Amino acid sequence: MTTDHKTQSGTEPQLVTPSEDSMPPQTRGNRHRSLELRLGRWTELSSLAGPVRVEVFVQEQGIPAEIEWDAHDLTSLHCVALCDGQAIGTGRLLPDGHIGRMAVLALHRRDGIGGMILSRLIEAARQDGHNGVELSAQTYVSAFYQRFGFQPQGEVYDEVGIPHQKMVLKF
Ligand SMILES: CC(C)(COP(=O)(O)OP(=O)(O)OC[C@H]1O[C@@H](n2cnc3c(N)ncnc32)[C@H](O)[C@@H]1OP(=O)(O)O)[C@@H](O)C(=O)NCCC(=O)NCCS
Repeated sequence: MTTDHKTQSGTEPQLVTPSEDSMPPQTRGNRHRSLELRLGRWTELSSLAGPVRVEVFVQEQGIPAEIEWDAHDLTSLHCVALCDGQAIGTGRLLPDGHIGRMAVLALHRRDGIGGMILSRLIEAARQDGHNGVELSAQTYVSAFYQRFGFQPQGEVYDEVGIPHQKMVLKF
């Protein structure tokens, strides 16, 4: 199983109001005046994570909308970064320890947001008792994952016209 944009039977995101039962705010001393990381299920976070994924994967990267949504959304733990209440980044952790759908809006990149989301998902995987996490990285951002300890494994392969590389982080 991979976490990336392979063609699967589509599951449209449910647009629902997120739960009030969210993580406490975490702040960072940069241009993000109020930064919050929220962890939750798709039923709670789809209305925040969904638009970020549409902007990044569908509009910016040209990934077909029908494969952006898959059945893993319903079983994953999702993380959303909010800046002044607006969702600006997201990622997900599958029950099997795969991380995927890492996305930060272009205007907010290289400001530590993706790293905060990734770190939070890695921490969640540790808490779940996994002995590591893995992901299918777009090769142009493999340096991002390497910075957090992920190691490339195997050959580069193509998914939806984008070169990918399996990357693994052992705990
Ligand atoms: C990948 C992505 C989520 C990273 O988010 P981000 O908020 O920009 O990442 P961070 O600011 O936390 O980056 C932390 C470090 O990772 C590395 N890094 C991040 N993006 C990088 C890039 N495009 N190229 C090389 N290194 C990168 C850098 O070392 C960076 O630290 P620095 O800015 O001090 O040099 C973001 O670029 C993105 O949404 N890209 C489009 C969607 C995508 O391709 N997702 C990945 C699918 S596998």
